[in-house]
Amino acid sequence: MSDSRLEKLERGASALKARLPECPMIALVLGSGLSGAVGSFGEGVRIPWEEIPGFPLPTVAGHAGEFWAGEVHSKPVLVQCGRIHTYEGYSLDEVTFATRLFALLGIKVLIVTNASGAINHDLAAGDLVLIRDHINMPGENPLSGPNLERFGPRFPDMSAAYSARLRTLAKKAATEEGIDLKEGVYLATRGPSYETPAEISAFRALGADLVGMSTVPEVIVAVHAGLEVLGISCATNLAAGVDPEARLSHQEVIETTRRVGEEMWRLLLAIIDRL
Ligand code: HPA
Repeated sequence: MSDSRLEKLERGASALKARLPECPMIALVLGSGLSGAVGSFGEGVRIPWEEIPGFPLPTVAGHAGEFWAGEVHSKPVLVQCGRIHTYEGYSLDEVTFATRLFALLGIKVLIVTNASGAINHDLAAGDLVLIRDHINMPGENPLSGPNLERFGPRFPDMSAAYSARLRTLAKKAATEEGIDLKEGVYLATRGPSYETPAEISAFRALGADLVGMSTVPEVIVAVHAGLEVLGISCATNLAAGVDPEARLSHQEVIETTRRVGEEMWRLLLAIIDRL
């Protein structure tokens, strides 16, 4: 069983590799809302997910994501534009398919971005937040099932999932760019409903600063495979109940992402420049 999983991944990786102008050092995952920044990448190659064998695709018609490969500050980067989520009905194997392709391509650094709700009262909508650690609330683990030895050990250590070296580098880049970068713990839920105020109070008591519906499975798989991980979240809204009068909407998430997208992009460029 594990062999067929690996074979499928290897087929996908070799198809992707054949399309790449050079071997990327860095993979960057842009959550769906942030993918709009793709226009500013400049010259490079676009590879729609449909063109990669085995890549999980939406079953209903609609726009799937794509990769962009090219140079950012003279460094070969592979950008994943868009991501898939378990709330769409995908398995954790599918959600982390791209992450494992990165490992098979020999990529060493993974930068993940996402949108989240701000649980910590010191955070505001529109803040950029460095992810220091995470809480895997759903409890399901993308590494369950036979271990893929090709990637890493059965019981991988998660004590330093978000690289201290990369966090220091990101903070320095932010300071030099005049960007206020906060730091916090990201808690993942399964979604797709937003949380209740009682859940947010409970998550705050657990030590979470941010809540979102993605990223954690990808990070677990990346750490298992030995990638160095940096996570940056855009707090797009106050989490449920933080402002008792407010109501949450996807529209607000989209609007804040648009508003902050340019600053996020500037930060990502400054980080890549320093890698
Ligand atoms: N909760 C969960 N996921 C989110 C939120 C939120 O408040 N905002 C953006 N993604």
